Amino acid sequence: MFDRTLKIAPSILAADFANFGAECRAVEAEGADWVHVDVMDGHFVPNLTFGPAMCAALRPHIAGVMDVHLMIAPVDPYLEAFAKAGADNITVHVEAGPHIHRTLQAIAALGKTPGVAINPGTPVEAVAELLDLVGLVCVMTVNPGFGGQGFIESQLAKIARLRQMIGDRPVHVEVDGGISAATAPRVAQAGADVLVAGAAVFRGGSAEHPSAYGANIRAIRAAAEAALS
Ligand code: DX5
Ligand code: ZN
Repeated sequence: MFDRTLKIAPSILAADFANFGAECRAVEAEGADWVHVDVMDGHFVPNLTFGPAMCAALRPHIAGVMDVHLMIAPVDPYLEAFAKAGADNITVHVEAGPHIHRTLQAIAALGKTPGVAINPGTPVEAVAELLDLVGLVCVMTVNPGFGGQGFIESQLAKIARLRQMIGDRPVHVEVDGGISAATAPRVAQAGADVLVAGAAVFRGGSAEHPSAYGANIRAIRAAAEAALS
């Protein structure tokens, strides 16, 4: 059953890279709904993280949804590897190649939930023909590549327009970048139901002392839910 209730998806880009397994277990224990995994290639975005081998290594440490955000180009040659690594959602950028429709079909054929992400400079109409193919649209509220950047306010209108375009299709509106208890109310009100947050979740805690993660997740969730009530 499709579930549009609010979800918080901590981005492990802000976790301790030497301790990813324990970090994933800790954020889930502290209330994360999904775990968001940022894959960067140093080409599509100006930063490098890790690939499918890391996703496979993380899989046993994530009980719920592993939400893999691919910031790589080309992407098609790697889809099968990320599917085999155990990703639940595989999100690709609409800007990352000329055949996004085919890429999304390929993800579905691998038995995974296809997602499409759009950069701040890309108009929302770029995904109009894709809404029947995807399980989520990720609106980037920063330029992808780094955690801890400032939220780009102009994306709020895009989120609202996207939510309208989706109508009653079973498609999540995910937002990614600069999400905190301060910005969560506005994105939730605009229609986002999956809130990715890196710095705002992982600050102040560690896998050994994870209570700050719980407090941070609860603060973001409470701020968003208050805006919806
Ligand atoms: C940015 C990544 C995000 C990032 C968000 O390129 O896609 O998932 O980790 O980090 P914060 O929440 O710190 O902006
Ligand atoms: Zn991301």
